[in-house]
Amino acid sequence: MYATATAPPAKSVTVPGLKRMKNEAMPIVALTAYDASFAHVLDSAGVDVLLVGDSLGMVIQGHASTLPTSVDDIVYHCRAVRRGTSRALLMADMPFLSYATPAIALETAKRLLVDAGASMVKLEGGQDCVLDVIRFLTEREVPVCAHLGLTPQSVLRMGGFKVQGREELAQQRMLEQAHAAVAAGAEALVLECVPAALAKTITAALPIPTIGIGAGVDCDGQILVSYDLLGITPGKRIRFTKDFLIETGSVAAAVTRYAHDVRARIFPAIEHSF
Ligand code: KIV
Repeated sequence: MYATATAPPAKSVTVPGLKRMKNEAMPIVALTAYDASFAHVLDSAGVDVLLVGDSLGMVIQGHASTLPTSVDDIVYHCRAVRRGTSRALLMADMPFLSYATPAIALETAKRLLVDAGASMVKLEGGQDCVLDVIRFLTEREVPVCAHLGLTPQSVLRMGGFKVQGREELAQQRMLEQAHAAVAAGAEALVLECVPAALAKTITAALPIPTIGIGAGVDCDGQILVSYDLLGITPGKRIRFTKDFLIETGSVAAAVTRYAHDVRARIFPAIEHSF
C-alpha cells in the first residue's frame, strides 16, 4: 500500500539501532503500548519503539496525572507488552520518585529490564540529580532515554501541562541539559511539547536520536500515546495529537498510516506543532 522508502526495516530494533536510524535519517516510529494485543498490532504494523509509559496511570487507570503510576504497574504492563512484541524495542518508563536516588533507580531499572523484559528505561528531567542518576545507570550498562520539555511528573511544580522552552533563557537551558544528558550516557531523548524550532536545534546538535511529541517534524522520531492516535482519549483533542482512526477505519490501518506519515515526515504537520 505504501512506498518502500517508508517501510520499516525487517530486523529487530536495538538500542544502537536507534542511533543508526538517526545517522541514516530514517525516522523512528514510536507509540505507547500497555497490553499484549495492542502490542501485537503495533509491532506488526512496523512501529519501531513501544513505550510502556507512566501515562498508563491516566489512560488506563483514569488518574488526573502520571504521579500515581507505580513500578509494579509498569512491570505488570511491560510483561504483557513483551509477550505481544517481536520486532520493536521495548522501553519502560521509570515512574515518579522511582529514581529519586541512584540506589533506588538501580533497583527500579533492574525490575524493568530483568523482571519485566524492557530493553531501555526512560526518566524525566535534566537537573543535576537526574543527570547523576543517568550517569550511575549507564555506567552499569542500563540503556537510558532522557526526557526534557514538558515532563509530566513535574506537573505540580509546572502548574499544569504546558509547552516548555518558549523563552530564550529556557531554550538555552534545555539545550545545555540535552548535551549534559548525552555526556551522562543517555542514548535517546524524548522532547515533549517544545517549540519546533528548538527541537530542530537540539536534534541537529546531538549525536543521539530525539523522539518528539508535540515537538515538530524535525525530531529524529515521533511518539504518541496510542489512545490519542485512535481518538479515544476523553476530553478535548490535544493540539499535537491526531485521530488516525477516523480516516482509516481500523486500528491496524490507523497505526500503519501513522507509521507511514512519520516515516514520510508528513506527521506532525504545522497544525500539530508549537
Ligand atoms: O508516559 C508516556 O506516555 C510518555 C510519552 C508521552 C512520551 O512519556
